[in-house]
Amino acid sequence: MGDADDQGRRQAGQGMSKAVVSRRALLAIVGTAGAAVVADRAGLFSSGGGGGDGGGGPQASSFGGSTKDSHEESNGDHHSSSHHESHHDSDHGDWDGSHNDGGYYGGHNPNDGITEFKSEIALPPPFRRPLPIPQELAPSRRSSDTDYYEIVQSQAKAEIIPGVQTPIWGYNGTFPGPTIVQNPNRRVVVRQRNTLPVPTVVHLHGGTTPHDSDGYPTDFVLPAAKYGTFPVMPAMAGMPAMSDPEAEMTKLVRNYVYPPQPRAATLWYHDHRMDFTGPSVYRGLAGFHIARDREEEALPLPKGPRDVPLMIADRAFAADGSFLYPSLEPRLRSTPGVEESGMKGVMGDVILVNGAPWPVMEVDTARYRFRILNASNARTYQLALEDPLRGVGFTQIGTDHGLLAAPLPLKTFQISGAQRFDVVIDFSKHKVGDEVTMINRLGSGSTATVMRFVVSRAMKDKSSIPSKLSTIDKITPTSDMTQRFFKFHRGPDDWTINDRVFEPSFSQAEVKPGSTELWTVLSDFHHPFHIHNATIQVISRDHQAPGPYDQGWKDTVFVNEGEQVELAIRFADFDGRYVFHCHNLEHEDMGMMANFQIT
Ligand code: C2O
Ligand code: CU
Repeated sequence: MGDADDQGRRQAGQGMSKAVVSRRALLAIVGTAGAAVVADRAGLFSSGGGGGDGGGGPQASSFGGSTKDSHEESNGDHHSSSHHESHHDSDHGDWDGSHNDGGYYGGHNPNDGITEFKSEIALPPPFRRPLPIPQELAPSRRSSDTDYYEIVQSQAKAEIIPGVQTPIWGYNGTFPGPTIVQNPNRRVVVRQRNTLPVPTVVHLHGGTTPHDSDGYPTDFVLPAAKYGTFPVMPAMAGMPAMSDPEAEMTKLVRNYVYPPQPRAATLWYHDHRMDFTGPSVYRGLAGFHIARDREEEALPLPKGPRDVPLMIADRAFAADGSFLYPSLEPRLRSTPGVEESGMKGVMGDVILVNGAPWPVMEVDTARYRFRILNASNARTYQLALEDPLRGVGFTQIGTDHGLLAAPLPLKTFQISGAQRFDVVIDFSKHKVGDEVTMINRLGSGSTATVMRFVVSRAMKDKSSIPSKLSTIDKITPTSDMTQRFFKFHRGPDDWTINDRVFEPSFSQAEVKPGSTELWTVLSDFHHPFHIHNATIQVISRDHQAPGPYDQGWKDTVFVNEGEQVELAIRFADFDGRYVFHCHNLEHEDMGMMANFQIT
């Protein structure tokens, strides 16, 4: 294929090659003791902040990469009509205070220090492409209690930028992948076939899932034999290939079995291959999985065509139209890692919603439910609505794990990688012709805009937002709950949890099925903390009350630089080996992941 990957166009960054070797060397010498590591709460960091910048040398220049400190507008005036100029005029301007609803991230922009890669092609004007809605997958077969689906992971071309063909890796060749709807009390089995040239792993993010269907990072679905062999952890110079004796691999296909989910929720599925999750998701391996239940179905919330998933993800494009990603080895066969410029995460200058750049959606004069997912590798957004005529806002109704107890009006909210916010936007007071723009207050230039709604049809609307949505058992910490402390930290060449990079053979916690524990996450940089097969309530941030965006049952919690976040974590009732990790996918790939064992 004319894949830019094969041309060795990217130059390897020396810094990262060294980093990768040292990580492997570490893997070779560490033992496999199974005891939980419980760090001492005191003295984990010598002082606030600082450490996260270690090793931040000069930017690798092959992409002309620059951080958001650059004031250059990437594409002249394509956003020139913009009313949000004020949002990016000053570096430390208005995102960090005046627009927050009492935000907890006091003064830190979570994207600071992360490189925004600039597209090498001209960016299209915003608000031209109609918002695509990912296709809802029909089951291939139904039994009395199970719906069976088939997905083929394949290479394809997508016209994301008008007139430009972008090679993607997609579920059924599409990005986003098809949406799977899991109906109340139904089991879902997804037969995934891998026709890609590399191993894959499918994880249902937010799912309550037995371990052999959870997408453990070494449970590969191996590609066709013609693509060669893939040791779990590729051999580095002078070292034998590592393997994970517990890995459960399959050839070409795998049936992922998802039992009925405990609550209606906006889940998503994505690739989770060890060391290569970032570039695999960036190429397109992500889709929605929507779990429904009777409680939610009985509510008068917007439904059908007014229940709309929005997958927000940033990308940059290379001159040949391919996704621009700074992999050390772009075929993703052997050497993991990114150039030094991508070490803190990879951001692009194009904001895609459901795979289209800055799309536009025509809406009725009615309420809409939007299931907003941040599927970006590293970018955090602060979403808001610009509605000069009528000043509409969001009403949050749900989060990662389903409905909140009661609706929560929000003018703006922060959403980090992998988080979901279910919101209602009420266009019923609008007039045909009104325009409402979704903006990103943490962006600048092209990344300060997300999409636009144009009110196009006057329609009656019978939906409403009830004042009680669901019941949430609030967890009160008690002294008999097991407490653990996890330090998320940048090492000299990698990202660590309690000073360790990810090792399949090492467990950092053993927990009881169905139990609730108190975990404190301490961080020297911004990290979205995510745990599999468990749900989270935020108990405190730096000993203060949870933040305004922490409501409900989460599976991904944003931890701010220098912050201590206390979490009540309730584990599901399945035994086995699972992971928790940072959902900045570059951090995850560079070691910031750990096992826990439900036993
Ligand atoms: Cu969305 Cu372990 O990941
Ligand atoms: Cu991180």
